[in-house]
Amino acid sequence: MSGAEEFVPPQARLPGLRKAVQDCRGCGLYRDATQAVFGAGPETAWVVMIGEQPGDQEDRKGEPFVGPAGRMLDRALAEAGIRRSEVYLTNTTKHFKFERVSGKRRIHQKPSRTEVNACRPWLDAELRVVKPHLVICLGATAAQGMLGTSFRITKERGTVLDLPDHEAQVVATIHPSAILRSDDREAVYQGFVADLQVAAQALRSLQAG
Ligand code: URA
Ligand code: SF4
Repeated sequence: MSGAEEFVPPQARLPGLRKAVQDCRGCGLYRDATQAVFGAGPETAWVVMIGEQPGDQEDRKGEPFVGPAGRMLDRALAEAGIRRSEVYLTNTTKHFKFERVSGKRRIHQKPSRTEVNACRPWLDAELRVVKPHLVICLGATAAQGMLGTSFRITKERGTVLDLPDHEAQVVATIHPSAILRSDDREAVYQGFVADLQVAAQALRSLQAG
């Protein structure tokens, strides 16, 4: 399969894109998912935040970051002084990839690089319409998608960089679900908040012009 390009309506704004993504067959991930989960947030947002892929609850509800990782993100955003309502939230791939274990439970599986690349035209369309001043990458999948496969979160997280090919800055940090998986949740959470505070500061200076 050749990717999402042919499914993305040229010139469409967010509502048109959000409708069209439901018919995307740009990779195999549409087959087992309930629906596509497009980004959410205002078209005028200064910040675009990019996660990895929708999870189980996102797949059911059709909205990004409404499950456990989303609650973690909400808490950290509030603590860093970024309002969720000023952020456009999206993912590198729009369909949930999972493996079924013991009958019912659906376990998240990382999208492959091929799937991320296939889905990229949707993310590019979102960036074209929203035109963010700041992009925040949550986790390695998003960060490497935006900054190249040699980008290392461990080394370069929490620093403000220029986003290649866009008039925007970018800050990369860990994925909030990494906090949920870690043995030292509090420390990992504090590190996440610290990175978001760097992003918040960058945003406020951009807004101050
Ligand atoms: N994790 C993500 O990366 N995105 C979501 O929307 C939910 C969980
Ligand atoms: Fe299309 Fe992306 Fe879904 Fe693949 S994951 S079918 S490219 S929307």
